[in-house]
Amino acid sequence: MCGIVGFVGKQACTSILVNALRKLEYRGYDSAGIAIFEGERIKTVKAQGKISEGLEAKLKTEPIFHATCGIGHTRWATHGEPSDVNSHPIGNGRVSIVHNGIIENYREIKAFLTSKGYGFESETDTETVAKLLDYYYEGDPMEAIEKALEDIQGAYALGIIFREHKNKIYAVRKDSPLIVGKGDGESYIASDVTAILEHTREYYCLERGEIAVLDERGIHFTDMHGEPIEKELQTATWDVESAQKGGYEHFMLKEIHEQPEAVKNTLSPRVKDGLPDFSECGLTAEKLREYKHIFIVGCGSAMHSGMVGKYLIEDLARTPVIVDIASEFRYRNPLVSSGDLVVIVSQSGETADTLEALKLSKAKGADTLAVVNVVGSSIAREADMVIYTNAGPEISVCSTKAYAVQVAFMYLLAFEVAYSRGKIDEEECKRLTAGLLAVPEKIQMCLDDMSGYQFVASKIFNADSLLYIGRGLDNALSMEGSLKLKEISYIHSEAYAAGELKHGTISLIEDGTPVIVAATQSALFEKTLSNVRSVKSRGAKVVMICRESEAIDANCADYKVGLPDAEDLFLPLISVVAMQLIAYYTAVQRGCDVDKPRNLAKSVTVE
Ligand code: AGP
Ligand code: GLU
Repeated sequence: MCGIVGFVGKQACTSILVNALRKLEYRGYDSAGIAIFEGERIKTVKAQGKISEGLEAKLKTEPIFHATCGIGHTRWATHGEPSDVNSHPIGNGRVSIVHNGIIENYREIKAFLTSKGYGFESETDTETVAKLLDYYYEGDPMEAIEKALEDIQGAYALGIIFREHKNKIYAVRKDSPLIVGKGDGESYIASDVTAILEHTREYYCLERGEIAVLDERGIHFTDMHGEPIEKELQTATWDVESAQKGGYEHFMLKEIHEQPEAVKNTLSPRVKDGLPDFSECGLTAEKLREYKHIFIVGCGSAMHSGMVGKYLIEDLARTPVIVDIASEFRYRNPLVSSGDLVVIVSQSGETADTLEALKLSKAKGADTLAVVNVVGSSIAREADMVIYTNAGPEISVCSTKAYAVQVAFMYLLAFEVAYSRGKIDEEECKRLTAGLLAVPEKIQMCLDDMSGYQFVASKIFNADSLLYIGRGLDNALSMEGSLKLKEISYIHSEAYAAGELKHGTISLIEDGTPVIVAATQSALFEKTLSNVRSVKSRGAKVVMICRESEAIDANCADYKVGLPDAEDLFLPLISVVAMQLIAYYTAVQRGCDVDKPRNLAKSVTVE
């Protein structure tokens, strides 16, 4: 996720672009830049760091004289560490672009252009698009754009300028958002309306496969083949802050709704010809075949994603997986040695205990794989291999989409380990991978109607304490559900293996004690039901999270949260949305500060 802006008009545009970028820094902030028409050339000023640290400082030393058209970008890196050269806008003297998204086939495009004599300065996927546009440009921008878009695969929103077409901006949208603002004698492009609200509230939403051409005369729209199309003008009613939340009340709710796209952005670049492909980071099938043990280490939600990974990898690949809390791992002299793989999971890539666990693993001779969301973070730089989860910035302290993409990666890892060890054949690996790729649409189905989660929250928000119970994968997911509730609603809860209740904890159950039951695994469903009956008979108020198609009688559960039908294996990744939203609406009903819960920080960089 990043921030794209553009301006065409009669006013000087530098400060307009920079101020617009500031409004989008919540979308990405590791670097920023602008490219404007200055005289007959395109001038680019860009720098690593936040706008106030990098770009603005550079603009003081490289002032821009009168310019009335340009594009700008504030980056959330996915390919290539944050640096001046990897910042956007990116291009050569003829073409300059800003990009939001991921070009999945950038390596193939880069090889093709290299064979045509092109050189590359940055490590980004974006540069391949800029050079491809240059390759196809023979004087007609629309022709170059049409040809380039036929070649590229992936998610993108683009702002493009061509030196020979002064004071014109070409905006292209596939999957990443892009709006076109209509001002008085001026027009804008932006990743969202936040960037333009101080200038205009009138805008067009660019849809998938549409192109907007902005110049001093105005705006016109075409499809990918240059055929004119008509668009409906919208009027923004939001203020800046609610616009940054995309109209949602909290960043957490917005980020929960971003999960289908986030999971897709994590998985798609790592699936090739229907099979998992981690070649980007050097995690080859040969290596995965040889590892004696796999450790998964992290904190909080990151560790919980490892619990899911354990169940998946051990079940499918028959390979021992040891999951550990980083702060425990680093002090228990873990049995890690060369020939082992340690998967280090961290959204921020800066968690102190997790970073130290990584260093300890390397010191003990293990191979280390970082699964992180922030490109160029300390953990990313320290690990032998890195997989970026591409979830975009997670603003809310409470981890939601970052957890979901970590779990999504664990599925893909489990399939690849099992396939590399011959525990599943190619056909089964492709079938499982295809099933995983279909999960985002199932998650979306859970997001289409919020009423059930709000209803459950209304029944538990006054509780002093409650239990989350499940078996197998559902037990792993319950850990995450319990943490969500605790950290944002301040209600004590505990995840407990459903089969373990009778060994002591069931004594906590009294009349009205809420128990949230995750029951997505068919093979364990009846066993779980017997545990449910045991708590129900002692007065518990039971919430069942299970398939909508499951017939649950009233003496078993008080409330049911129905899930769309899917293979057992994938339901936990789908059901986590229900747990997130139950926690969210409970916190809202308790009037808690959802995005900034008390006592918590987004990144725990201290021990
Ligand atoms: C989860 O909602 C919390 N934000 C917290 O447990 C978090 O998962 C943990 O601090 C680890 O952070 P990291 O993924 O950035 O390393
Ligand atoms: N994939 C591009 C890059 O890494 C764009 C990332 C973004 O959306 O900010 O530069």
